[in-house]
Amino acid sequence: MELTTSADRFRATCSTARQEGSIVGFVPTMGALHQGHGRLVAAARRECGFVALSIFVNPFQFGAGEDFSSYPRRLEQDSAVAASLGCDVLFVPEERSMYPQGRPTVTVDPGPLGERLEGRSRPGHFRGVLTVVAKLLNLAGHGRAYFGEKDAQQLVLVRRMVEDLDIPVEVVAVPVVREIDGLALSSRNVRLSMQEREAAPALFDALTIAAQLARAGERDANVLRAQMARRIGAEPIAKLDYVAIVDDATWEDLVTIEGPARALVAARFGSTRLIDNVLLPWEPSPAAVQNTSSDEERR
Ligand code: PAF
Repeated sequence: MELTTSADRFRATCSTARQEGSIVGFVPTMGALHQGHGRLVAAARRECGFVALSIFVNPFQFGAGEDFSSYPRRLEQDSAVAASLGCDVLFVPEERSMYPQGRPTVTVDPGPLGERLEGRSRPGHFRGVLTVVAKLLNLAGHGRAYFGEKDAQQLVLVRRMVEDLDIPVEVVAVPVVREIDGLALSSRNVRLSMQEREAAPALFDALTIAAQLARAGERDANVLRAQMARRIGAEPIAKLDYVAIVDDATWEDLVTIEGPARALVAARFGSTRLIDNVLLPWEPSPAAVQNTSSDEERR
């Protein structure tokens, strides 16, 4: 595996791989690699002849008072992990080479969805994310880029950006990887105290409750939201930020669940803020199925 800090070198290496006939699979990360990242690289390895991974803790996606300075950084360990996962190139740019003029004046506007949910709790976050992802995708060039479903809002915004700005990259979503007790893997989990770690599966419990209600036929999104909030509220050290039930295509908040929907939750455990989400089980009601088949018969 080649390790480079140079953007030009990274661009050239990906470009050479393409010229030699490989599909370039790119996994952008902020490091502190865990098995969730491992799944992203494994998916890229399966599908692409050349796998590139980047590690860059992007300052402009952290708000004032957020955990930019305490975000886990462990390059030596990460570099060994990236090599063992079979990456071909590891790109670790320095901040001054990514942003030679400091904060960029031209940035990617994430649109209205960028202001909601994570965007409401973390103003400017998605502008920072999309701006750095656009830069990284431009450097990696044509190919596939792999993102985890844990950051579901980030994933949908990256998809929208790639589509709206005609970036020649296929975005591939990779399912959440969980600990045995349901906690979604996250680089931030290492910062949980023992007590916080014990409480953190409350997030997945809340999502499981929403999924069970949906499976049992509950269609009132407020009932799901209330039950999710109740589960988080039952955990004395968890501080709920939000629960949400959104349409999985439009990401609008739902009143009634009438199609594929996503449940999302964010909460703070001490100084660590965690997020998680699941796609809710969905089956159209028998009446809707009957209507569709008679519609089809009429055609
Ligand atoms: O998900 C992350 O790790 C980051 O938001 C990303 C996509 C690497 C951009 O900094």
